[in-house]
Amino acid sequence: MNASLRMAIDAAPHIVVTGGAGYIGSHAVVALFAAGYRVTIFDDLRRSHPQVLDGIAAITGEPASLVSVDICDEAALDAAFAQCGQVDAVIHFAAYKSVRESVADPVIYYRNNVGGTVSLIAAMARARCRRLVFSSSCTVYGQPDALPVTEASPMKTAASPYGASKQMCERILRDAQAAKGNTSLSHVVSLRYFNPAGAHPSALIGELPAGTPDNLIPYITQTAAGWRKTLRVFGSDYPTPDGTAIRDYLHVMDLAEAHVAAVELAMRASPGLEEINLGTGIGVSVLQAVAAFEHATGVTVPIEMAPRRPGDIEQIWSSGTRAADKLGWRTVRSIDEMMASAWAWQTRLGSTPPAGV
Ligand code: UFG
Repeated sequence: MNASLRMAIDAAPHIVVTGGAGYIGSHAVVALFAAGYRVTIFDDLRRSHPQVLDGIAAITGEPASLVSVDICDEAALDAAFAQCGQVDAVIHFAAYKSVRESVADPVIYYRNNVGGTVSLIAAMARARCRRLVFSSSCTVYGQPDALPVTEASPMKTAASPYGASKQMCERILRDAQAAKGNTSLSHVVSLRYFNPAGAHPSALIGELPAGTPDNLIPYITQTAAGWRKTLRVFGSDYPTPDGTAIRDYLHVMDLAEAHVAAVELAMRASPGLEEINLGTGIGVSVLQAVAAFEHATGVTVPIEMAPRRPGDIEQIWSSGTRAADKLGWRTVRSIDEMMASAWAWQTRLGSTPPAGV
């Protein structure tokens, strides 16, 4: 790298990304880098693969700057911030995300997702950084009464401890932003993601859940690759056109770019709080998702119909009006690109799963 480019990067705003080695976090790190930000990842890699850091480095041409820290450990967070120098904003991804696991073991979800957020806010205050972008989820809405879901749609009682943990974090952030005390935040942007899918076009980073995937798209790609025998379609008797459940799948690179826009919003002069849906506005059923994968890749996915999965909602998709208005953002990548990039990443992983998968 030449000296003037190095100086420009050193002078750029500095963003800490907790959970930056995770699926969405790693794509956001790459997008921030492409937009000219300086990035430090806080992540102890407990649920991600160290190869992600190699992927980030290969894409950006810079070694990923990582501080290994447990998000619940305030002393370790203080040390991590001290090591970073000035931090202009934090994007907070570090959290557990399995609905199924959260039902089985709710306390670890409350400890890590809620406790981690509280510890982070307290440590940010000591580090004099008061601008936060939060990784929330459309799960905060439960099954909506009307579609598409807008940010004004009521939040129902969460169907899982995972969903409840996201609702609680959003409440904590609203309180912290409204407050004027020692641990208040000045700027908060909570991003309610719909269903992210796909991978970076280089196929150097992508989604690789530990163990059997819970989510549809990695299950599709792993079945197509022969890692799994058949995809079970959970529920074919929903009141939807083909009987299967409907979601709003968006390309993870579109989602990553929304984080760049959200950081820009959090860097504005006047304090504020925004809660923003991120989706395409298009509902896609499970069978349509399988067909889209087969169309994009030419690879057939063996499926079998199975009973509904407990805790699933039947259909949800987003209104993108506020994202367009506040972030100037909308999705630009197609479902074909989502599926093709997810498959390119899967293919790169090889014919047998790595250890632990
Ligand atoms: N599905 C199957 N077979 C599978 C996996 C999923 O039929 O093997 C179905 C599900 O039953 C559901 C749809 O595919 O109808 C989507 O399921 P996902 O698990 O991919 O996504 P969810 O909408 O259930 O949940 C995901 C994340 C949550 C997040 C939520 C909204 O798992 O963490 O999106 O953001 F909160």
